[in-house]
Amino acid sequence: MFQAQILRQFARTAQAQAPRAAIRTRQPVLSSVRPFSHTPARLDKPEDHDAASTSGQPGQSGDHEGQFARTEESIVVEYPEEDALPRSLPVQGRGAFHFKRTLATFSMEGKVGVVTGGARGLGLVMAQALVTSGADVAIVDMNRDEAQRSAAELIETFKLENPNSDKVPKVTAHFCDVSSPTSVNQSVADILKEHGKIDNLVTSAGFTENYNAIDYPHDRMQKLWGVNVDGTYLYAVAVAKHLMERQVPGSIVMIGSMSGSIVNVPQPQAPYNAAKAAVRHLAASLAVEWASAGIRVNCISPGYMLTALTKKILDDNPELQKKWTSLIPVGKMGRPEDLMGAVVFLSSDASSYVTGADLRVDGAYTCT
Ligand SMILES: NC(=O)c1ccc[n+]([C@@H]2O[C@H](COP(=O)([O-])OP(=O)(O)OC[C@H]3O[C@@H](n4cnc5c(N)ncnc54)[C@H](O)[C@@H]3O)[C@@H](O)[C@H]2O)c1
Repeated sequence: MFQAQILRQFARTAQAQAPRAAIRTRQPVLSSVRPFSHTPARLDKPEDHDAASTSGQPGQSGDHEGQFARTEESIVVEYPEEDALPRSLPVQGRGAFHFKRTLATFSMEGKVGVVTGGARGLGLVMAQALVTSGADVAIVDMNRDEAQRSAAELIETFKLENPNSDKVPKVTAHFCDVSSPTSVNQSVADILKEHGKIDNLVTSAGFTENYNAIDYPHDRMQKLWGVNVDGTYLYAVAVAKHLMERQVPGSIVMIGSMSGSIVNVPQPQAPYNAAKAAVRHLAASLAVEWASAGIRVNCISPGYMLTALTKKILDDNPELQKKWTSLIPVGKMGRPEDLMGAVVFLSSDASSYVTGADLRVDGAYTCT
């Protein structure tokens, strides 16, 4: 037995050594190895790879250097005024009762979910996903009228698609500027008055705009961080306090962005990217801090989703669409509906052991 082990060991050692010996004989002679340096490489041959390395001067191997990995200063997109944005409507044909078998843990029945920024865009569709899965929902938004219209339309869509349902979900609208602690606390109090409790939170209030960093107006930058970062933090803390007081578990889903992990090109948006990196790490940090209270905190990082806002950016810069889709392995932008499954998964008991995670819904953009 012992002898057989020694023989196997010997055979493995011999096998492992054989290729190494072969490689050694093929190693280049020392004189042809060029050390790493910043001195310009001699372009002996047009295909000289050194010119394409840090040995070469900028542009030495051609004009293409860094061509598809740069921001362009010429792209400036301000967050538009409310009346410049078309309305978002609830999606149709997704909400009816169905008889396909699925896991019961995906159900949100009996839960009350809050969606900030739920009047429009991704927030509205995610609110609809929670309603379709059985939850009552409070839409929280700075745009009071739009929030009210969207809440009413969610109920109408539900009734239309579920004519025989004995229970119609309760969907309410609440004004809030998520960047203000007073406004956040006021809206949480309003929601508790209407719904009696909160079990879930989705923070979708946020916005992006494109300026190069040198010209970014400071007041706009503060506003951007105020809504995207402070707003996410303030609402999460308010809901976590409520859950801790009730001593019940809950789930918080923060809407980050793939921009929190990569740098988009060609549109410049450094403060937005940094804000979304903060959201992603806030989710991880609060997941750890609140794990013992049974409060899960996760992040969804969408890629390019075709909402009213991205449509506006593309209308202003028509050439962007091709650039964006050429960088997405799936080759397509996502639709808001593509987030429905992700938000229900992370909000429901289907993900009861998932916390501190970042779920990227980006057509594999961040994989390349
Ligand atoms: N659309 C995309 O491609 C995309 C991609 C990645 C991440 N995101 C993120 O998803 C979230 C939603 O984006 P969207 O495309 O649906 O945008 P959107 O502009 O369509 O919707 C955002 C909503 O947030 C509300 N809002 C803005 N500031 C607020 C404030 N201070 N207080 C309360 N509500 C406020 C707006 O009124 C609006 O209803 C944002 O956080 C955005 O950064 C979007």
